[in-house]
Amino acid sequence: MNFRKLLFPIFSLFLLNVLAQNNYLPEDYLTKEFHKDRREKLRKILPKNSVAVFFANAVRNRANDVDFVYHQDPNFYYLTGYKEPHALLLVFKDVQTIGNKKYNELIFVQERNELAEIWTGKRLGIEGVQDELGFRIVYNGSEFLSYDIDFSKFDKILFKNFKNDVRDTTNEADLFSLIESFKSKVSFDLLTITNTTNDKIYNETKRRIDTKSLYSLMASLREIKTSDELVLLKKAIEISAVGQLEIMKAMHPNMSETEVQGVHEFVYKKYGAEYEGYPSIVGAGNNGCILHYVDNNKTITGDNNLILMDLGAEYHGYTADVTRTIPSNGKFTMEQKLIYDIVYEAQEASILKTKIGGNFIKNHQLTQKIINKGLSELGIINSEDSPHTYYPHGSSHHIGLDVHDLGTYETFKENMVITVEPGIYIPEGSPCDEKWWGIAVRIEDDILVTKKGPVNLSAIAPRTSEEIEDAMKLPSVLNDFNLPKLD
Ligand code: GLY
Ligand code: MN
Ligand code: MN
Repeated sequence: MNFRKLLFPIFSLFLLNVLAQNNYLPEDYLTKEFHKDRREKLRKILPKNSVAVFFANAVRNRANDVDFVYHQDPNFYYLTGYKEPHALLLVFKDVQTIGNKKYNELIFVQERNELAEIWTGKRLGIEGVQDELGFRIVYNGSEFLSYDIDFSKFDKILFKNFKNDVRDTTNEADLFSLIESFKSKVSFDLLTITNTTNDKIYNETKRRIDTKSLYSLMASLREIKTSDELVLLKKAIEISAVGQLEIMKAMHPNMSETEVQGVHEFVYKKYGAEYEGYPSIVGAGNNGCILHYVDNNKTITGDNNLILMDLGAEYHGYTADVTRTIPSNGKFTMEQKLIYDIVYEAQEASILKTKIGGNFIKNHQLTQKIINKGLSELGIINSEDSPHTYYPHGSSHHIGLDVHDLGTYETFKENMVITVEPGIYIPEGSPCDEKWWGIAVRIEDDILVTKKGPVNLSAIAPRTSEEIEDAMKLPSVLNDFNLPKLD
């Protein structure tokens, strides 16, 4: 009897069971090969004799000695997989030689520190970055200032211009120091201090330094998702869509905006998504008219209100962006449904056009046309051509490592993932019949562009007004537990 043959089906069943419970494997991060491949792709499109310089994101203080949870700069993460602050990456177009060392990339990272690691956990340090991220030549950040590199030999030095709030007073080899060292090495400050056209160094520096092109180079890479990225992005989106469905089931008029947000967080964390990809937006009634309303502090969503919920989980760095608008008591009023169905019609038409060769402008204009027609038929605006502010935003953007992900915003191409998110917002006091006041609707889905046409990755979340009302009749496990009453 071959025990291995017998055991394998049993083991597979066990594994399937575990997967079914957890839904997703915890270890499906991007690989070091992915990041290396991205650096190779960037190197290919860099201009001749150039170097691209990337800085890690700054640590941001929340209050006193507490910082915000650290989040890596998406370009830095895309190219390295490194999740710690105080780091610098240089990607060279051509092979560089120092002594007998040859290299085409360098990374300076946060140093190991026994004491700090007791508080905030293990740092990768030089060895970790070599072993786990696959970089060959790695230095500590403190070595950058004295590192012998002559930037004047490059025709182009590409980097993103700096913000001014990167000082970390607790760390000598912090991002601020790396930036200051870099600026002095490339004479960057000359550009802001002097403007004498005959100054030779000034002109040389101006010719070499390029703080604009890196955006479009990175955008051209990041706007097309690789299969590895799509796995993560799809998970983030599905998790977020399930969260929306669970809110629909749990929703009742006594629920607060904060609690609605909490339901979504509970669901996405249960699936292993770490954060929200942007501050959650949960607006009841008139609050829904504030496009990026993040206070979410209305204690009771109330009867007969629409709740606009723009919520995106971030899974291993990739963020969803899904919006549903639902009636707090489970049934749309006539006015709410009329507005909702216009937005739905605009969204559906735009999703169908999210195909290879389509583009952002045409899609937006299509949503505008349908919304204008709908608003004028309801008498909210005088005619389809009347100017108004009831739809004040664009209809689509890329998503990925950023919620508003980098993109060239030209035509739609295979393996782009973009949102389609028209909306109508009628704040109290608007110049129309007051029966429309306080109605705000946005419907937002995440669409994958494929050779076979658009694929709605957030389709798990009910979307038509009828589907939403039906979903809101379903029982929710989340209402079954009774927490103790507090004074
Ligand atoms: N959640 C931000 C947006 O929809 O663009
Ligand atoms: Mn969006
Ligand atoms: Mn959104």
